[in-house]
Amino acid sequence: MKFYIATDHAGYALKAFVKDCVISLGHEIVDLGPDSADRVDYPDYAKKCAKAVVTDEGSFGIVICGTGIGISIAANKIEGIRAALCHDAYTASMARAHNDANILAFGERVVGKGIVESMIDAFCTTEFEGGRHANRVSKIEPKSNFGRFDYID
Ligand code: RB5
Repeated sequence: MKFYIATDHAGYALKAFVKDCVISLGHEIVDLGPDSADRVDYPDYAKKCAKAVVTDEGSFGIVICGTGIGISIAANKIEGIRAALCHDAYTASMARAHNDANILAFGERVVGKGIVESMIDAFCTTEFEGGRHANRVSKIEPKSNFGRFDYID
């Protein structure tokens, strides 16, 4: 699998560990920043990751902020993104199985490294089940301009 990763300052400290986890599981990961723990705005980095994922078909994303809330809300504003805020291996696995999530989101201030490792493993090893879930997921996609918009820079 190919992943893109982006964080804000409150998710920055966990980023190196997450990259190591993804690589040790045999996957690829591209770091979209930031390159330091200086304060940044999570919508900017959510958008970078979300756009990379929709542009590079079949790729996935990981976004991290303090709680995972802001960065997941922001990523979900980009059409084609299903960012799932997860807290453990179960939610990470269900995010793939039932929601066909293409971005895994979590909060550095919420989860420990053991949980992070298990979430990444669950996310990578679980397939979307399709069937009735595919019908539900299709109902999330906007059918007109009244859906989600690419928010302003
Ligand atoms: C930054 O202090 C914090 O608000 C941010 O990382 C995130 O938790 C927002 O949802």
